Amino acid sequence: MSQYPIAVVVGSLRRESFNRKLASALAKLGPSEFDFRQVSIADLPLYNQDDDDNQAESVKRFKAQIAEAKAVLFVTPEYNRSVPGVLKNALDHGSRPYGQGVWGGKPAGIVGVSPGAMGTAMAQQHLRNVLSFLDMPTLSQPECFLQAKDTLFDAAGDIGPDSRPFLQAWMDRFAAWVKKHAA
Ligand code: FNR
Repeated sequence: MSQYPIAVVVGSLRRESFNRKLASALAKLGPSEFDFRQVSIADLPLYNQDDDDNQAESVKRFKAQIAEAKAVLFVTPEYNRSVPGVLKNALDHGSRPYGQGVWGGKPAGIVGVSPGAMGTAMAQQHLRNVLSFLDMPTLSQPECFLQAKDTLFDAAGDIGPDSRPFLQAWMDRFAAWVKKHAA
């Protein structure tokens, strides 16, 4: 088993998601002792507090995958200047029942890509608010706001040469952050 299993939560369900592509390409820049695992949120039901005593199998599966991770990497689009509802839904599922949340103490990183020039900045700020409440130490700098330009990925789907130095530096900082804060 890898020394550092890292749960990757992508805030988009879209088939051709730029953010999922980014999550896959970014994982390749991580250190060898990190094992990035994308955790599906597509099958989670809408959160309903009435179900706290009888959580769906998909919710149990999701929570177990987060629980076994040493850290969480959020890769999210921005929807209407905030995080997509599917991501907030997943965050809520992972926080309940009260006292049985899986997020607390896990170091986190946030990146995102958008066709827009602000590159998910507002969504990330909203997400920081939530992660703060969930008691997740979240890497502050460097911030990682990416615009979906043609050069972001190369033909193989890896990070292209223009963006690679910045994203490698981000990953190096994230890796150090995880090692410092992981339980
Ligand atoms: C968007 N998009 C968008 N982009 C942005 O930069 N700021 C925003 O507030 C929004 N708002 C928004 C709302 C909704 C409902 C949709 C569907 C889209 C555009 C968004 O960045 C674009 O669709 C990305 O391609 C979504 O990311 P994925 O699915 O490619 O990962």
